[in-house]
Amino acid sequence: MSTEFTTRITEAVVASLDGTADPRLRELLAALTRHLHAFVRETEPTTAEWERAIAFLTATGQACTDTRQEFVLLSDVLGVSMLVETINSDDRTGATESDDRTGATESTVLGPFHMTESPVRELGADIDLVGGGEPCVISGRVLSADGTPLPGALLDVWQASAEGYYDVQQPDVQPAGNGRGLFTADDEGRFWFRTCVPSPYPIPTDGPVGDLLRATARHPYRPAHIHFIVSAEGHTPVTTHIFVAGSEHLDSDAVFAVKESLVQDFTETDDPSLARRFGIPNPFRHARFDLVLNTSDAPFARAPEGA
Ligand code: BEZ
Ligand code: FE
Repeated sequence: MSTEFTTRITEAVVASLDGTADPRLRELLAALTRHLHAFVRETEPTTAEWERAIAFLTATGQACTDTRQEFVLLSDVLGVSMLVETINSDDRTGATESDDRTGATESTVLGPFHMTESPVRELGADIDLVGGGEPCVISGRVLSADGTPLPGALLDVWQASAEGYYDVQQPDVQPAGNGRGLFTADDEGRFWFRTCVPSPYPIPTDGPVGDLLRATARHPYRPAHIHFIVSAEGHTPVTTHIFVAGSEHLDSDAVFAVKESLVQDFTETDDPSLARRFGIPNPFRHARFDLVLNTSDAPFARAPEGA
């Protein structure tokens, strides 16, 4: 192998990009070339290994349909989705090096199951249309980073059933809209709704990403969580989850999406006045937390992302 050639080819490919009109595209392609070539120089794949890699990427593309995005799943299990999400998230905007949070709720991955519009529901409604799980209440406030409540904030919520499946995965078992709700915070920014305590569940493993997990002896599970997209006039929306404290797989999420600040207690509660207030039989589990948004000059879109 000629070291001179393996270095020169990288310079030649990067130079071939000089005519790229869009400077950002040129920067991205040049960096991709340098990193990809460095990977090949470091690992020296055999021709058979390179053909295997191309076959894997081909199968990943072929597994994609209108309702399934295997490339996004690949990006998720390699931790790239969380890197991109975190680099772009508003909770770091304006933050300092020593404290890279601004106090806004941290973001995490959108995931593939926000593919259908959440039904509009009244505050206090039960999003668990199937039953059978442990009943719980989720309550809190939507606040601006300075602590001001945000009346009229929109909360788009979705979660898997107590058995660990989203409604769209079991159209013959669950009614459409099970585990989903679009809520509007009240005039003090408060929200509350009923549901069942979610369970850990596996990401889809019947495609090339499943093969990758098996080949690397990795499990496919995500810890129990509820998804939120929260938006309010004059504020940057946040796409996030709350994770159930004590859930299995919190320290080994298949998509690396757990952030400590998002783990919440679902406290065992046996309180007649609270049960009456929330219209739920005792005992029940109760998760209370606030969702905090940073201010923004961007216009407010009433429709949540992806709806
Ligand atoms: C989810 O939480 O819905 C999810 C996120 C990433 C990959 C698969 C599922
Ligand atoms: Fe999920």
